[in-house]
This record gives sequence, C-alpha cells and structure tokens, in this order.
Amino acid sequence: MPRPNLPYVPPSSVLIIGSGVFGLSTAHALATRPSFSSTKITLVDRITHIKDGDMPSTDAASMDSSRIIRADYADPTYTRLADEAQAFWRQQGDGELGGGGRYSESGMLVVGVEGTGGMKYVKESYRNVKELAEEGGYGEKIVEYGSSEAVTGFLGTGAKGSGDWGYLNKVSGWANAEKGMAWLLDQVKRTARVEFVGGTVDSLVWDGEKGEVTGARLADGTTLGAELVIVAAGAWTGALVDLRGLCTATGQVLGYIDITEEEQEKLKDMPVVLNLSSGLFIIPPRDRVLKAARHAYGYLNPVDIPSSKVLQKKVSLDSKEGGELGTMRISLPRTSADSEPRLPLEAEVDLRRAIEQFIPISGLNDRPFSSRRICWYADTPTGDYIADYHPAWKGVFVATGGSGHGYKFLPVLGKKIVDCITGEGSETVREKWRWRDEGEVTIVDGVESVVTKDGSRAGYPGMVLDRELEGKGISYPNGNVN
Ligand SMILES: *[C@@H]1O[C@H](CO)[C@@H](O)[C@H](O)[C@H]1NC(C)=O
Repeated sequence: MPRPNLPYVPPSSVLIIGSGVFGLSTAHALATRPSFSSTKITLVDRITHIKDGDMPSTDAASMDSSRIIRADYADPTYTRLADEAQAFWRQQGDGELGGGGRYSESGMLVVGVEGTGGMKYVKESYRNVKELAEEGGYGEKIVEYGSSEAVTGFLGTGAKGSGDWGYLNKVSGWANAEKGMAWLLDQVKRTARVEFVGGTVDSLVWDGEKGEVTGARLADGTTLGAELVIVAAGAWTGALVDLRGLCTATGQVLGYIDITEEEQEKLKDMPVVLNLSSGLFIIPPRDRVLKAARHAYGYLNPVDIPSSKVLQKKVSLDSKEGGELGTMRISLPRTSADSEPRLPLEAEVDLRRAIEQFIPISGLNDRPFSSRRICWYADTPTGDYIADYHPAWKGVFVATGGSGHGYKFLPVLGKKIVDCITGEGSETVREKWRWRDEGEVTIVDGVESVVTKDGSRAGYPGMVLDRELEGKGISYPNGNVN
C-alpha cells in the first residue's frame, strides 16, 4: 500500500498543485513544520491574468467577497474543528488573520422548515453549537427563534412562510475570502520556503511500470518533478485524478446587488442568514454590495476529456502515459475565466426570493444584479474531505472534496492535511478524510456523479448547467425544499 509506515520519513521534494485554501494552507503547514525543513516545496497554480505569485486565480472557490465562518454543523467533528479555526479568525490584532476587515462576527441566523431534511440539520447544528457554547460559558449567545413569527419578527420582514424554526448564533460570522487568501499567501511567502510556479497543469506524470507518480506536466510542456505530488486542485481535481464515484464538481449560484449607503446603514447589524431548507443565504452588505447565494445540490457541467491525461484508478499497463484510453466524461468548472457568468432563470428567481425573505427593504428583490457568479464545489457523498494517499499509485496524495465548506478552516486545514500525510494528529479527522470506496453514483448525461447527502443541501440533484440555462432543465423556480 502507498500509505507509508511510521515513523514517517519526509520526502526530499513536494509539489502542490493548486493554491486554493487546501493547497495554500498545506504549503504553509509544510513550510513551518520542522520535520519538513529539508523538503523542497513547490506550489503550482493556473495563472490567467495575474502575475506570478499572486494566487490563486480569481475564479477559484476560495476567492470571493465573503465566506461564512461558522461552527454550526450537524456533525460534531466539524463543529470542534471550526471552533479551533474560529479562535484564529477572532485574532484581530495588527497583521493577525481576523484583522484588517478579514473577519466580521456578525452572528448568523440559521433557519429551516419543520418536516424537511434541512430542519434536521438545523436542529443537530443547534444542539452542537449550544453544547459547545455552554461548555465555554457563553450559552446565552445561542438564541432560539422557535416559530415563523419569531423568525420573521427578528428579520423584520413580516410573516411569510410557516413552520420555520431557527436560532441565532451570535458568535458566527463571515470572512472576506479574498483578503483571507491574500493574508495566507503573505504568510507563506514570509517563510521563504515555497517556490511559486505559474502554469496550468495539463496532467500528472507517472511511471506505469513502477506504479508511481513522479511529477506534473504543464500546458507549455515543462515538467515539474517531485517525490510527493499533492493534488489540491479543488473542483478541477477530477481532470487530473480519476475521482469518479468519489467526488464531483458542482456549480453553486451567487448574485450581487448594489445598494445605497442608506440601505447599508439600515442593514448594518444584520447577521448572516442561512435557510437550510432552501439553501439560500445572505451575507451582510459591505461596500454597498449585498450578496445572495445558494448552497444546494448545484449544477453539473459535463465535459469530455482524454482519459490518457487522467491518473487512472488502478495501475495497469494501459496506465502508461499516452496510452489509448478514449475519453471520459466528468463535470468540470465553467467559470468567469471561460465565459461571462450567466445564471439560469430558476437561480435568479431563487436568489431574489432570498432577498425578499431575509431583507426588510421592500422592492430590493427586483433590483438588477450587478454581477453574478458560479462557485464550483468539489462534492463528496458525505461532505467529508479527501486527504489521503492514492490507494493504488505511489507518490501522490489527494487533498480535495471541500464540498462547499472548506474555507472557514483556512487557519487549521493545512496542519490537518499534513497530519494526514504524516499519520499524526487526530485519528478521527484522518479517518473522516481517508480515501473511500466508491459510493453510489447517479448517471446524469453520462457523468457518474455523486450527491452530497450531509443534510445541508437543498434543491434537486442532477441539474445540468447548460440545460437549465436553456430553460429545459428539471428546476422548479419556486419553493425548492431540502
Ligand atoms: C426557508 O425556505 C423554505 C423552503 O423554500 C421556505 O418555505 C421558508 O419560508 C423559508 N424561510 C425563511 C425564513 O425564509
């Protein structure tokens, strides 16, 4: 088995593919862990319109105006892990992670509707954060809103739906995602241990006879060699390593609305609002921009790619580079780097519904979006990450499967991933993130997709982006219920 025996002997060189929150935090953890002090560390990421070292690309999932920072999870392991991360977000001194407008502890209202899967998640999450808060002596910061009237009363929107139940977690908040990444990049640069390479990885390089990955080839033909290759390419990972049945790229919708200074003033104390029965959420406005988004099953974007470029699941002679294996169809991101983002009508309608349901300013839901975006998740069946050695190939470790909830762990994720590399740290976490057997797949347009069933997703699985854009999809514009 490729998993090394203890005691762990660090490799002489590591190549990390991808500088999103998984890759960049891993680079930082390797660069600062004494046992890797003689390891050469290289980080490669796509460079589109930005200069060398300014990573990641702006269309990456880690890069956005905001990400929710919450310990509100139905799974207590993530509640504890998020609590550990949040201690760093709360450090707001000069140069610290949470300073410089990178973190705002606005609070978060989490709601659901009785009888839905989303509600189950809300209740479990409430139990977990309440327990955490009581242990920490701040139980009063988790406030229950036990009816629709209480929820809409709090929001100031007046009665709308019924059956709502929710709670306000006063110690959750949100981060300026792009600024957080810039801070982390700066920390990595300060170690002076990591060499940054700008370039798009075309494929891994492997030796089929030895069953070993030896590096990566870039689109310009150059090759980067390393004893250990860490693939952390987010939703693009499936184009480098065959992850069918394990991880699927799904597109999630975001819309931004420009508001006035007055409107912003009115909303200045609003918390993040997250409805787990619809997946809709709103981040409090900043710089006169309000963001509405949806955490749902998401869209698939089926693409045919040559199988010969993808590290196959098993080592075989066919796995020799350049072997004739035909094509494979997987879902891959389509971002602003590919074309101007457009949202399907059902998404626009849904995002407007979020504004109408959560924001007490009438008419705001009719205002045009100033910009739109599709954020690409790397979804796994359970929502657990993958941070493990490839089960068949030597010299390759995969760190992906963020499932739309990785960003908040920015200050601790890399350390945990390196623990998975060396076999240290919490066994619970290592076990959660290990390479699983292939799960149940749903075939949609030839894509063997997995569906995240962690209870946090709303809407309908298996929507295909192009079909929804053409108005021929399976969407139901109103009342998506998780
Ligand atoms: C939450 O979403 C559900 C499902 O779409 C909806 O029925 C309910 O009214 C929403 N609640 C709030 C407070 O927005």
